[in-house]
Amino acid sequence: MTTTTSRSIAKPLWQQALATPAPEFPQTQLQILAGAIPDGLRGTLYRNGPGRLERGGKRVGHWFDGDGAILAVKFADGAASGVYRYVQTKKYQEETQVDRWLYGNYGMLPSGNLWECWGKSFGNAANTSVLALPDRLLALWEGAEPHALDLDTLATIGTDSLGSDLTPLVYSAHPKVDPISGYIYNFGISIGAQPKLNLYVSDRSGKVIKSTQTKLPRLTTVHDFLMVGNYLVFCLPPIEIQPLPILFGLASYSESIKWKPELGTQIMVFDREDLSLVTNFTTEPWYQWHFGNGFVDADGNIVCDLVRYRDFDTNEFLREVASGTTQTEAIGALWQLIINPTTDKLISCEQLSDRSCEFPLVESSQVGQEWRYTYLAVHKPNAVLSRELVGTIGRFDRHTNNLTTADLASHLYPTEPIHVVDKFDANRGWILTVVYDGNNHQSEVWIYDCDRLEESPVCRLGLPSVVPMGFHGTWKTS
Ligand SMILES: [Fe+2]
Repeated sequence: MTTTTSRSIAKPLWQQALATPAPEFPQTQLQILAGAIPDGLRGTLYRNGPGRLERGGKRVGHWFDGDGAILAVKFADGAASGVYRYVQTKKYQEETQVDRWLYGNYGMLPSGNLWECWGKSFGNAANTSVLALPDRLLALWEGAEPHALDLDTLATIGTDSLGSDLTPLVYSAHPKVDPISGYIYNFGISIGAQPKLNLYVSDRSGKVIKSTQTKLPRLTTVHDFLMVGNYLVFCLPPIEIQPLPILFGLASYSESIKWKPELGTQIMVFDREDLSLVTNFTTEPWYQWHFGNGFVDADGNIVCDLVRYRDFDTNEFLREVASGTTQTEAIGALWQLIINPTTDKLISCEQLSDRSCEFPLVESSQVGQEWRYTYLAVHKPNAVLSRELVGTIGRFDRHTNNLTTADLASHLYPTEPIHVVDKFDANRGWILTVVYDGNNHQSEVWIYDCDRLEESPVCRLGLPSVVPMGFHGTWKTS
């Protein structure tokens, strides 16, 4: 006799955080759940991510489509307060009025009849990252202009052209701030018959003071870049985007992306001063969302790290996240590239760690310069990668090639670890991460000593309600 047993696999608990729209909360004193806030932690943590993936009973098409909501946690005098607000984009306001999705986005088409869909191919979701300027916070999305918000209340002021006359200003979500000059470097891809890579230089206030456009050989997507010494470095992945299905409303942007490894990865290096193209060559295929950091070594070579994938399956996994059920395995690992910018040569491409990870970051004072530690969100060693989100955070030591990770319990989901230098001791640093606790369906802010990640966090703060795992954040010292 043959017995067939069916066993349903329980959904991983991270999906609870994304199942329903996250509620906003006003400025609230945060309860200290354990430990104490370090005295030298003075400033504000800002984080961005999709807070709403469902409207009118309908899910978005991709995790990248959710409406951006900003968390601000302000630390002062041993206490912390938090506020969580949706960015009041035109898209968010119009869709709130009718309580259904109207706009298309990265992974979804606009809804409604032909008339309703007109001009709504892409709604600015303002959901990817934040940039803290002296007088305002920018909520960033990579397909259009930033939104300006009040630094304290997170009230949305409106779209922000950064003083530029470029229309539209396509401003990516990964600007780089030179720790010496304070100048801000960024880029944006203009979609059209002739796709272009826009480069922007802003002063400390955010005002664009220089920009250029470089023709691209094909429409592609670029999520991040590097500011390395006197260079700006781009790695264009071997993907091709079919524009016609997007234009005719037959397929979303994400669905129109084709992985074409035969194209190879195109490396473009620009001079940071005059924004001229220094190097442009093609090498082996890979995909990356994010770079960690880079510097120019004594031989004049560009040394950088990144989280590298073997293909574009990572996009399918991220699409599945929005549904709450994932099945695609996408392994991203920390790699190092060495590029010779004068001979158009990739000198080496080496895997640094075998742990699947994402969101590489370094101390803000070391951006573009030689550094030792890359901080990462890391999968737990036994994680089923097709089903899980990152379950811990870690620090990769480039001197010893050792990865130190925090010891998080099962069903806890941290976000990108952000390094903050202690205000009173430049040799001390703190790591801030927002943790979703799937066991208790609550969110907390955890603070680690950056040199003691393997120990318990020095402080845990309770948030008033769940803040879902998001994408990127920043720190503004007060
Ligand atoms: Fe990103």
